[in-house]
Amino acid sequence: MARHPAGELDDADFQVVEAPRPAPADGQVLIRHLYLSLDPFIRPMMDPVRSYVPHLNPGDLMPGFGVGQVVQSRNPALPEGTHVSGRFGWQEYIVADPAALRVIDPSLAPITTAVGILGMPGATAHYGLLELGKPKPGETVVVSAATGAVGSVVGQIAKLRGCRVIGIAGGPAKCDHAVQELGFDACLDYRAAGIEERFSALTPGYVDVLFENVGGPLMDMVLRRLNAHARVVLCGAISQYDGPTSGIGVPAFEFVRQRATMTGFIISEHMAHWPGAFEELARWIREGKIRYRESIADGLRNAPAAFKGLLTGKNFGKQLVRVARENG
Ligand SMILES: NC(=O)c1ccc[n+]([C@@H]2O[C@H](COP(=O)([O-])OP(=O)(O)OC[C@H]3O[C@@H](n4cnc5c(N)ncnc54)[C@H](OP(=O)(O)O)[C@@H]3O)[C@@H](O)[C@H]2O)c1
Repeated sequence: MARHPAGELDDADFQVVEAPRPAPADGQVLIRHLYLSLDPFIRPMMDPVRSYVPHLNPGDLMPGFGVGQVVQSRNPALPEGTHVSGRFGWQEYIVADPAALRVIDPSLAPITTAVGILGMPGATAHYGLLELGKPKPGETVVVSAATGAVGSVVGQIAKLRGCRVIGIAGGPAKCDHAVQELGFDACLDYRAAGIEERFSALTPGYVDVLFENVGGPLMDMVLRRLNAHARVVLCGAISQYDGPTSGIGVPAFEFVRQRATMTGFIISEHMAHWPGAFEELARWIREGKIRYRESIADGLRNAPAAFKGLLTGKNFGKQLVRVARENG
């Protein structure tokens, strides 16, 4: 990161730095980065504000989850060729201690899933919906950024739990995908006119669970239609990350009236949930009950543009960057 962004990301917020390839010490491994995950939470980390993690400063390496392959090993537990995932950052080579890595078995699922549906976003969807949203059969679940890495999994799990699922997404292609491919009952295209009326028509029995990824006026629209004892799961507010902020113009007493709860969470504080979530999600993928989709940008130099695209809805599914080709 070259500087703190002022609002929307600019190319000058980033700089490419060339440095010698690092060498692993005894017990460590050298990893060649194959796929970098771009995740929205990195954008708020670029602002100098108090948060659940220290913010970035100019000159810091852009952080990010990644998948790679061990190319030099000084630890017999991780031989060369092993696929691993971890917090790699926006760089081509990483030196790491094995304790900081997750070993990936490429015969079980494509390696990219280790930073998508079988990685942090999948764990987020599984934990947030099931542990905080607590959906019951027949209830109405609304999820925003519905075709994205987290939202697509949330909606599909809610369907497996017997819920009626309404997605909110930008544009007809994403909405068609939500209904036809992901099996949602309906999808609200928020880029088209008359959102409030169309949303009211889609929720005659109101909303029992809101899984919120976007924030702003769209979130307020759903909050005004909560059912009694509704659960609002605050996962993210991507529409607000570039600032300025808006939304939450809903009177506090509305939550009292509906006896609703609203809970924010950060998935890295719930690591105990991850292995069980991955096991269940992997089984659902094998059984053809859950689908996922990816957008892959080519080359680390295109990471800033792809990251900007993620924050403006240009991605369609989990956004990745191919840093290097395997065996390439
Ligand atoms: N709490 C946690 O631990 C945790 C963990 C992971 C992710 N998250 C949050 O979960 C959310 C989704 O993350 P993800 O990785 O799954 O990303 P994603 O949904 O794959 O991609 C982001 C999507 O957000 C939507 N979006 C972007 N800007 C928007 C805007 N101004 N207004 C409305 N929608 C906008 C776009 O979809 P449309 O084109 O459909 O608008 C875009 O495709 C983010 O808010 C993220 O911060 C939280």
